[in-house]
Amino acid sequence: MTPADKPSVSVLGAGNMGTALGHVLAGNGHDVRLWSIEEDVLEDVRDNRRNSKYLKHIELSERIQSAWKLEEAAGGAGIVLFSVTSQVLRAVARDVAPHLPAGCIVLNVAKGLEEGSDLRLSRVLGEELGDGRPMVCMGGPAMASQFAAGVPTAVIVGSDDPEAAKAVQQAFQNEFFKVETTDDLVGVELCATLKNAYAIALGICDGMGLAMNTKSLLVPLALSEMASLVEALGGRRQTAYGLAGLGDLITTGFSADGRNRRLGETMGSGGDWREFMKGPTLEGVPACHSARGLAHKHGVETPLLDVIYTVLCGEQEPREAMQSFLREFDYNGR
Ligand SMILES: NC(=O)c1ccc[n+]([C@@H]2O[C@H](COP(=O)([O-])OP(=O)(O)OC[C@H]3O[C@@H](n4cnc5c(N)ncnc54)[C@H](O)[C@@H]3O)[C@@H](O)[C@H]2O)c1
Repeated sequence: MTPADKPSVSVLGAGNMGTALGHVLAGNGHDVRLWSIEEDVLEDVRDNRRNSKYLKHIELSERIQSAWKLEEAAGGAGIVLFSVTSQVLRAVARDVAPHLPAGCIVLNVAKGLEEGSDLRLSRVLGEELGDGRPMVCMGGPAMASQFAAGVPTAVIVGSDDPEAAKAVQQAFQNEFFKVETTDDLVGVELCATLKNAYAIALGICDGMGLAMNTKSLLVPLALSEMASLVEALGGRRQTAYGLAGLGDLITTGFSADGRNRRLGETMGSGGDWREFMKGPTLEGVPACHSARGLAHKHGVETPLLDVIYTVLCGEQEPREAMQSFLREFDYNGR
């Protein structure tokens, strides 16, 4: 039985991130019910205390129980954590909505804006689950495989509801997993989305073999554009300069594994990047399209984002686009 100060948590999505966060929660003494559409993953967790498909090196606690049905996963949960990809979030929310306990905290870790509507994901969840629910978004530089292995990590959780943000902080925080709270939900959600798009630009530098001087000059440009977009859309500039923006941009744009960075690398090396895009979901691509549209709508100039956009639209070859940006961009004129 979970003590009252340790609410049980429903984790929807047993991929890399959901399993890793469930592992942290279980280590902190919370009972976790892990739901997935992938039955083999749930069986692996139940029978072997492993998620060999998504997080193979971690032994999972008995506190993590597999749940085959959403009603079984969500019933009685104090926190319901959405850790599916942004593309399927609305559908999963719609299915779980009838089973959510009154007053449970809704926590989302998916990164992106809804394709088509450009809605922030807390708005998508609000539409499906009811706007009265405490809504929290987690962002920051937290690669699942790293913090699951106990690497010191810090995340930021944003919410309009300070009590909900604090409850999430209390559930996750321990000696190696630190949780900052903010009331800038908008800023955290937008930074989480935008950094994936800018990681493509950083990857193009890698693929072109450009030196660190060049890649580094793009970071403050990306941040400045992110901050302006966040501000124009109702968030705070400073959120872009903290864990949600700068922190996550560094992780995504400089680590070897990140798929958005690797897309850019493929582009910059002259590889078949359209073929690369046929692989697992790349959240930076829809993020770029949405962000470009929102920037235009709100009159925000985003010359670096425009480079990625023109490349993705096939209007310019990646290396040519980056070279002409670097040649022509006027730092003082912006
Ligand atoms: N992996 C990380 O380090 C990390 C860190 C921070 C945030 N995130 C974000 O968390 C989200 C999930 O990322 P991940 O790395 O866990 O992805 P993943 O590919 O490892 O897992 C995706 C999960 O979504 C589920 N899913 C896919 N299609 C589905 C559908 N139609 N219906 C229901 N479930 C479906 C899969 O079964 C799986 O459980 C993403 O938005 C990602 O940006 C990931």
